[in-house]
Order: sequence, then structure tokens, then C-alpha cells
Amino acid sequence: MGIDYPEDENNEQTYFRYLTRLDLVRDYIDDKYKTLPDEELKRNAYVHSYGVGQAASLLALFRGFDEETAEMACIAGMFHDFAKYYVEDTDDHAHVSAKIAESFLKETGDFSEEEIKTITEGIYHHSDKMVDDNVPFNDIIKDADALQHYLRNPMEKYWLEKSRVKKTVEELKLNKH
Ligand SMILES: [Fe+2]
Repeated sequence: MGIDYPEDENNEQTYFRYLTRLDLVRDYIDDKYKTLPDEELKRNAYVHSYGVGQAASLLALFRGFDEETAEMACIAGMFHDFAKYYVEDTDDHAHVSAKIAESFLKETGDFSEEEIKTITEGIYHHSDKMVDDNVPFNDIIKDADALQHYLRNPMEKYWLEKSRVKKTVEELKLNKH
């Protein structure tokens, strides 16, 4: 038994997978980031957005949520700083990112109203790191944002002084050293 890969016209097996809702989000974000003229900003935009997206899906699964919620967490993570990188002249990047995500997710027609609300609220509140709003999904996005900074280089131990990083590192039992 194994995965049955379809063959292409040369009778060669090719890797195949269905596109997911997350692919729609990645395509949208990639298309926008591709146009960023500053190479350093572009690199940071990709690394941080994908990093937080993946940290968010890891935390969602680790905390016992299902795969749909992990996908939504990844989407919120991908979008959370979108306006910071793509929209000039905004000092309100969390709220602007949430607005842009909301209109994109609605446009796809692939998300329920409740899902859009969950995702966009996670984005909207992610900058309030010191506020505990008792919404587990929002905490995933805040913690993933903090964790990604630490994971870029665990030798930068000053990140552990941030309470969210410290708490999440302890939760994941990464602090054995
Ligand atoms: Fe961030």
C-alpha cells in the first residue's frame, strides 16, 4: 500500500496534491510581496510571514485543535503583518491587515462567516501582546509571532526575556539547556 501517484504524459509518476484554501492565501500574498521593491524588506516579509504561519499551525495542533483550525491559524499567521510590509504609511498594521484579509477571504467564497471572523480577529488583536483576551485562537497568533523571533536564532537568548516567548518555549519543552 502506498500513495497512488498519477502518471504524466511520459508515463512518469508525478507528485500530485489538491490545492487547498491555504494555497489561495499563499498565492495572494506571494503575488503582492513579489512586487516589493526593497529586497531586504521582501526577504523579511516572506521569512516572517511563512515563519509565523507555520509556528501558528504547530501551536494549534500542539494545543489540541483540529487541522481546520491549524489551517486557519496558519492563514492568520501568514496575513498578520501584511500591511506592515505591503501598505505604506500605516501605523495601524494589525487592523489594516485584518481588513485586507477579510475582504480577500470573503472574495474567495471558500470561508464561512464564522471562519473569517476567527481569522481576522486573530490578526486584528495580534499586536496586543500584553492583553490576555481569553481567546485561544488569538493567543496562538500572538504566541506564534513571538516564537518566530526566537526560532530565527535560539542563540539570541534575549528573546526569552519576553514573557510570551518564555511561556511558549516552556510549554513546548524547548528549554532543556
Ligand atoms: Fe509579526
